[in-house]
Amino acid sequence: MMIPGSIKQKHKADQKKPIAGKNIGKQQVYSDQHEKTDDDSNKKEDVAPPKAPMNMDVSKLTPLQKKMLSKLSGSRFRWINEQFYTTDSDKAFEIIRKQPDLFEEYHKGFRSQVESWPENPVDLYIKRLVFRGVSKPANSPGGLPGLRNDKKRTVVVADMGCGEAELATQVDRFLEFYRKDHKKALKVFKKKYGGDKFVSARNKRIEIKVHSFDLDKVNDNVTVADIKNVPMDDESCTVVVFCLSLMGTNFLDFIKEAYRILTPGGELWIAEIQSRLADSTGEEFSNTITKLGFRHKQTDTSNKMFTRFDFFKPLKPERLDVQSIQGIRESGNEGQWLLKPCIYKRR
Ligand SMILES: C[S@@+](CC[C@H](N)C(=O)[O-])C[C@H]1O[C@@H](n2cnc3c(N)ncnc32)[C@H](O)[C@@H]1O
Repeated sequence: MMIPGSIKQKHKADQKKPIAGKNIGKQQVYSDQHEKTDDDSNKKEDVAPPKAPMNMDVSKLTPLQKKMLSKLSGSRFRWINEQFYTTDSDKAFEIIRKQPDLFEEYHKGFRSQVESWPENPVDLYIKRLVFRGVSKPANSPGGLPGLRNDKKRTVVVADMGCGEAELATQVDRFLEFYRKDHKKALKVFKKKYGGDKFVSARNKRIEIKVHSFDLDKVNDNVTVADIKNVPMDDESCTVVVFCLSLMGTNFLDFIKEAYRILTPGGELWIAEIQSRLADSTGEEFSNTITKLGFRHKQTDTSNKMFTRFDFFKPLKPERLDVQSIQGIRESGNEGQWLLKPCIYKRR
């Protein structure tokens, strides 16, 4: 988990220019980083700190050399993480296209952060897909939403900003096993992810297809795309997931894209780091997503470090309030007033 103390949010909003009626909080800037404003965000140098030499036999390094090596990769991880949170997605896409090695290093750093978290939100989503999928048929009360025009009622998931596509990998692996031996598959799954004794393999014909999108392809499950514009047809998905991936300063474009690809009745699941919420409660976040056409179902604050939001796309479109959101966005991007950047501290 983003250990309090191991990360800080750097709220990059220029505090001298508060956005009309918005409380944008106190600016937090690290002592070891120069102060930047959002106006700099797309102008700053897109050159990462130097890379550690390749093909090095680490076992032959002195303790000092090892320390230097780890500092180098740490600073590259922090640099790319900061780019993701403080630039828009066009810029992030360009940085990764020009320096693809950075993406691998980002995920190496992210993986090592995850190891220290008591709970990983992506595991909760894997569990939710499997438990709801096995216990109730799609489109029944409590079941997952499935495609209505499909005989199999396939649940089509878009994992937006999937990283290493853990969601697709684990769901596919489970389904393969489940089709061979549903009871055993569920038992093994419960052992790994934590069980709920009331969940049983009642729905034998579960179909879940996960599409995974990210800025680069770390494995074959991933399709390269900026999540503001993914290669999926209108209303072709039944669940859209953003697990810690609302990173770009234009992340409301990602939400609009989710609205486009979701079928009416489809669900939107969002997990974000609690300390990113500009109003700390997430109320403003939910209200904003609602103005973009979704209905708010629930906010789960049971985990101190992550807040999980559930929305759905109503069967009949509601009056959107995109205009008022656009107005606010013109005075400052959503990375300033809605979700603050999450910047890792230099150790
Ligand atoms: C913190 S990681 C989380 C990865 C994964 N969802 C998980 O929970 O393990 C966020 C991911 O979002 C991706 N991302 C951020 N902005 C993106 C964009 N505009 N388009 C595609 N992927 C993006 C990053 O590349 C990164 O892999």
